[in-house]
Amino acid sequence: MKPREIRRGIYFVGAVDWDRRLFDSLIPLPDGTSYNSYLINGSEKTALIDTVDPTMTQVLINYLDSLKVKNIDYLIAHHAEQDHSGSIPVVLEKYPKAKVVCNPRCKGMLIDLLLIPEDRFITVEDKETISLGDRTLEFIYAPWVHWPETMLTYLREEKILFTCDFFGSHLAASDPYVTDEGQVYESAKRYYAEIMMPFRTNIQKNLEKIKDYPVDIIAPSHGPMYDKPEFIIKAYHSWAFDEPKNIVVLPYVSMHGSTRSMVAYLVGALAQRGVTVKQFDLTVTDLGKLAMSLVDAATIVVGVPTVLAGPHPNAVYAVFLANALRPNLKFATIIGSYGWGGKTVETLTALIPNLKVEIFDPVLAKGYPREADFKALENLAEAIARKHKEQGFA
Ligand code: FEO
Repeated sequence: MKPREIRRGIYFVGAVDWDRRLFDSLIPLPDGTSYNSYLINGSEKTALIDTVDPTMTQVLINYLDSLKVKNIDYLIAHHAEQDHSGSIPVVLEKYPKAKVVCNPRCKGMLIDLLLIPEDRFITVEDKETISLGDRTLEFIYAPWVHWPETMLTYLREEKILFTCDFFGSHLAASDPYVTDEGQVYESAKRYYAEIMMPFRTNIQKNLEKIKDYPVDIIAPSHGPMYDKPEFIIKAYHSWAFDEPKNIVVLPYVSMHGSTRSMVAYLVGALAQRGVTVKQFDLTVTDLGKLAMSLVDAATIVVGVPTVLAGPHPNAVYAVFLANALRPNLKFATIIGSYGWGGKTVETLTALIPNLKVEIFDPVLAKGYPREADFKALENLAEAIARKHKEQGFA
């Protein structure tokens, strides 16, 4: 494919990775991803915004060759993570006069991660500018979106905001801009849940920080660009600022059907009371879906059998992940079956120090649930519905 020209002399030179299915050896990528890099020609200087994952360096190099780029003055590094920085060493070798432009913290990380020589850097402060002649780059620090060194670049004359991971989506697409907002909403929300949600208060601060910049295009480092930026800004505002909704997330695992029957009963009892439930079988579920559901949920109920005196390991994994993602949950509890004893409740509750939740009484059945257990589930559903209503979660 030929490089796409976004505006006169500004090109998308990134790589679309249709086939990648796992990120960080952790995050499922059902729709692939992209590593976006942008070339900006000014009347006097040329800048490259970020590079691409090292597995796709050649795509970037081919684009630069096809555009006959003889010199790069500034290689803007927004973020040291290797999916954007990993091709910097190759670009520096190809363009010996190029300087990496980043903040001091990013410089240290790039030296650590990629062994880039110290003399190849120029560091910039928050709000500092660099002129390309007829174009001006303004650098905006955006710490913890999602690493401490992250920054953004605002191209003043064109009103383009290059946002790195901020507003990104893991979505491979052939169109440079969003064409299907429903699909991008899903991918961007998944991305927010997995990458940004742990830093929600920093996201709030950074949304405030950029709100007075007039922006015609948001150009993130993953997924398509936004030529209607209000779509993704509004979505981020709702994810980062809104109160939870009247939703229970119910990840569960069941070995012989007892816990499953409790889950089914509770789902019915909650639905009868107007509470939305999102149920996930942890033996098969895409953990990205579970993460997304945590963005809006008020309550998490973990369905877990006791095995080897403790919680089933699949539930441990899910609870550990939920704690790490720091969702805005308000309530939590555990339901499930056990054979003769164990420390399931103690083990799982010890795994959620980050969740500022009120814990409902767990409902544990010895063996297959009996009438008293179903009654306890009925009471649990009633308590959840009442709390959600009291808090005004709609
Ligand atoms: Fe897309 Fe944090 O790197």
